[in-house]
Amino acid sequence: MSSQIEINSNLVKYLALNGYRPDPIIDALVKETKSLGAVAQMQIAPEQGQFLEIIVKLFKAKQCLEVGRFTGLSSLCIARGLSQDGRIIAIDNSDEFLPLAKKYWKKAGVQHKIESVIGQGVDVMQSYIDRQFFFDLIFIDADKNNYPNYYELSLQLLPTNGLMMIDNMLWGGNVADISDINQQTETIRKLNNNILKDNRVEFSLLPLADGISFIRKK
Ligand SMILES: C[S@@+](CC[C@H](N)C(=O)[O-])C[C@H]1O[C@@H](n2cnc3c(N)ncnc32)[C@H](O)[C@@H]1O
Repeated sequence: MSSQIEINSNLVKYLALNGYRPDPIIDALVKETKSLGAVAQMQIAPEQGQFLEIIVKLFKAKQCLEVGRFTGLSSLCIARGLSQDGRIIAIDNSDEFLPLAKKYWKKAGVQHKIESVIGQGVDVMQSYIDRQFFFDLIFIDADKNNYPNYYELSLQLLPTNGLMMIDNMLWGGNVADISDINQQTETIRKLNNNILKDNRVEFSLLPLADGISFIRKK
């Protein structure tokens, strides 16, 4: 039986060169986001973006929802994976980086597939439940303390076979450090454990970048 290999710094360098195909638009968005300073660490890894695009294509998703847009890399990649009649609604509680996101959505020619909604993730998701508006794919990448809420709301917004992907589920490796009892770490650790035991779903916890939980609603 093969087991999970350890990702050391050598392997990280290897993955940077061989696990992501350079893309001029993604690379420019990453560069401009980096120039914003410390907030740039919120951006998904480009290799996660390319993974999202492939999944959306394979899954033939039509209606996608994202919680946590920031400078728009994940929405751009999801939109790239969508067919011309596919849509993604990108929620964020701040409009601060929306102009930057829109600039790159336009450069990538996907702006017509992305609807931006400014609001609290929980409230906006609840409003879709109230209006009986459903999604076939949901990507969660916002405030970690609300992750359990986003998980439960997503289960109400997805049909059977719907797909949920949650970023940062390894939380810099801190989930495995039992001495780390920081609230965000505890929340993610508990959610991983709940997903493990949740008979409503099938899942795979993938160690891609900061970890993506890949969840199918049964
Ligand atoms: C990790 S970043 C998202 C990164 C993005 N997916 C990307 O590809 O670059 C998290 C985002 O969630 C937003 N956020 C934080 N709390 C939120 C909330 N309660 N509701 C909606 N968005 C929230 C932040 O404003 C931030 O832009």
